[in-house]
Amino acid sequence: MNLNNRDFLQESDFSAIELQGLLDLAVLLKAEKKSGSERQRLTGKHLALIFEKTSTRTRIAFELAMKDQGGHSTLLDPASSQIGHKESIADTARVLDRWFDGIEYRGADHATVLALAEFSSVPVFNGLTDRWHPTQMLADFLTMQEHAPDTGSLRYAYVGDARYNMGNSLLMMGAIMGSDVRIVAPAVLWPDQEIQDAAQARAAQSGAILTLTENVEEGLAGVDFVHTDVWVSMGEAKEVWDERVSLLRPYRVDSALMAHANHAKFMHCLPAYHDQNTAIGRQIAQQFGLLDGVEVTDDVFESPSSIVFDQAENRMHTIKALLVATLEN
Ligand code: CP
Ligand code: NVA
Repeated sequence: MNLNNRDFLQESDFSAIELQGLLDLAVLLKAEKKSGSERQRLTGKHLALIFEKTSTRTRIAFELAMKDQGGHSTLLDPASSQIGHKESIADTARVLDRWFDGIEYRGADHATVLALAEFSSVPVFNGLTDRWHPTQMLADFLTMQEHAPDTGSLRYAYVGDARYNMGNSLLMMGAIMGSDVRIVAPAVLWPDQEIQDAAQARAAQSGAILTLTENVEEGLAGVDFVHTDVWVSMGEAKEVWDERVSLLRPYRVDSALMAHANHAKFMHCLPAYHDQNTAIGRQIAQQFGLLDGVEVTDDVFESPSSIVFDQAENRMHTIKALLVATLEN
């Protein structure tokens, strides 16, 4: 596998062998770090980080991964720089290209990360757009492979708002990797038809089984992992909460929903509204009477089946693998 100098914009640009290669490299790098024997492969490398939306895990994972590997990262803050308001993405890309070995971008419009890649010669990494969250997929697949009950194909469900980055990416990544994927949501919140068609085309090659259903019982039968995500994503108007809650209330991940699965592990990309310990979580919980959690109840989130913090940890090991695979000389 040679991913040197490749962009990482969306899962569909990669083969199953390449994606599994990244996961295998993450296993190696994670073991090196845990045993205190990490070898630095990115000495002298510089990475630009652009975050037009907020982040805890993705930003810190990129920063820590570069530091562990002997490289350096620079945050370009849209609020205090020219990007977007006074300078186009094409011009910004051509400036950063002269100084940096790679560029990470998080923002709304997927076209922006594509433009950065078009106008720069260095690898561009998608740290989340409204359409895809591919670095999250590396962490999710590593975590599922670590916890899978057997070595066969992964069997998982995504329950909730499936027409956004997490639903799209979990459908596409599973399609490429040959998984048994269930999208469990009201049909109006399924990935758009173009994404469903592209995923089905990859499934035809990989042997993946893709099921889109409104029926929770059917969707969860036999799965080993249940994923969800927030019901309203970054950048969406707060007015959509009313409609979203009425659509998704039957799809909240609680212990009754989990009982339909096969002693499944619970997964969430985080951040999650599972309690009232954040201002927004409290406000939504009280406004809609979801006092024990919004997209997931607190008892499921805090249960022994919940592997959300393994998943969060793996963001760093998998992003490190991506950086090493694309930037190492
Ligand atoms: N899961 C995830 O992308 O987290 P952040 O928004 O904190 O980066
Ligand atoms: N769907 C969420 C994912 C956050 C990591 C969002 O876009 O806000």
